[in-house]
Amino acid sequence: MGRCPECGAWDSFEEEIQAKNRPSVRKGPAPQTAVSLGDLEAGSRASRLLTGIGEFDRVTGGGIFQKSILLLSGGPGIGKSTLTLQICHGLQERGGRVLYFSAEESSIQIKDRADRLGIHEGILVSNEERLDEILTMIISEETDLVVIDSIQTVYDTDLDAVPGTVSQIRNAMFRLREAAQRHGKTILVIGHVTKSGNVAGPMFMEHMVDVVLLLEGDDKNFWRVLRAKKNRYGSTQEIGVFTMEKEGLREVLNPSSFFIEESPFLSGSVMGSVMEGIRPIFLEIQALTSRSVYAMPQRVANGIDTRLMNIILAVLEKRLNFHLGQQDVFLNIVGGFRAQEPSIGLAVAMAVLSSLKNKELDRRDLFMGEVGLSGEIRNIPFLEKRIEEAAKLGFRRAFVPGKAESLNKKELEIIPCTTIHELAGKAFP
Ligand code: TYD
Ligand code: MG
Repeated sequence: MGRCPECGAWDSFEEEIQAKNRPSVRKGPAPQTAVSLGDLEAGSRASRLLTGIGEFDRVTGGGIFQKSILLLSGGPGIGKSTLTLQICHGLQERGGRVLYFSAEESSIQIKDRADRLGIHEGILVSNEERLDEILTMIISEETDLVVIDSIQTVYDTDLDAVPGTVSQIRNAMFRLREAAQRHGKTILVIGHVTKSGNVAGPMFMEHMVDVVLLLEGDDKNFWRVLRAKKNRYGSTQEIGVFTMEKEGLREVLNPSSFFIEESPFLSGSVMGSVMEGIRPIFLEIQALTSRSVYAMPQRVANGIDTRLMNIILAVLEKRLNFHLGQQDVFLNIVGGFRAQEPSIGLAVAMAVLSSLKNKELDRRDLFMGEVGLSGEIRNIPFLEKRIEEAAKLGFRRAFVPGKAESLNKKELEIIPCTTIHELAGKAFP
């Protein structure tokens, strides 16, 4: 139409393609029939997509399981798009074909990032954000991996809701999953998480996918941890550690070296260990106790469960007669790591003791054990493995739960202790 009958303006009409006719995803093949369990194809036999990024491949359980749908979530600016582009590049170098939908950023921004990462060709990129068009392309293109960056920007024109709302996300996830299943596509969906750590567009997203990967870390720290929160095809125990560099994310092969600060050890600092999957990681725990000026002393724990801290403080108070009632206590894990297992308890107790007594410990001393309520030091899982690794990393002494005498190593002196009382005596002679 040349002239608008409404306002009288010339040439003001623009063509808009309506996406009312849904592509064939909805119809799909014939109804499913029931099959005997024995006739089903085993998962281990189905192939996986290796990306060549070792840390990522390990966290996914040996590569991306084909014909599955994955969710990669993390806070804004954490490096989801960067990691994803590197994954795409790895796949593509191994002969895979990748289709990358990025409604989040313009083609120029994507190109800039790719240039920074030294990735120049091969990956198919589209800025499409309408679901129907995306699905049509997914079905018609021959691809090994499809990326949706991010689910919050995709929308169905048939729905009234704006992009990013629960109904849009739920609908988009549902139809993407359907496409993955019916057409044998492998889809990686990127989703933002809110400040509280939940994937924006609540839990249902996690139920709808096969694998949920979280990329964590914070802007102040340049390392990033990738973990599987859910994995239908592998363990959720593994983590991948990266640093964010100028050239993108770089794998950290020996994370322990990373959480140990090289500055001199002052009072309040102690080395402890946690298991991440089958890998022991050694980290530095710092405690600071100081006379409180408040009626209610402060208790602040970074990276350690506050309840664990409170239990340990109570044990120290009751069993070792330390009066902590008027002391502020601050705890921190160097590097911003989170240690969620009880085996860190002994190190926490020693850090607090060291700060209270204002006596420094040696950086090459390692404290591993769970602290029981009566002050006993309890055994922890994978002690042997931790000791083995500690010996390799050059620790001098390891303070461990009582019954571990047999684990002695040439390079590493093992000091078994049964109670926190005994330990305090041995560590501070
Ligand atoms: P980005 O992958 O865009 O984060 P997300 O998709 O999770 O929002 O990257 C976030 C930050 O990473 C960005 O602010 C800049 C930084 N960065 C680097 O430090 N080095 C790099 O090579 C790239 C590509 C990004
Ligand atoms: Mg992004």
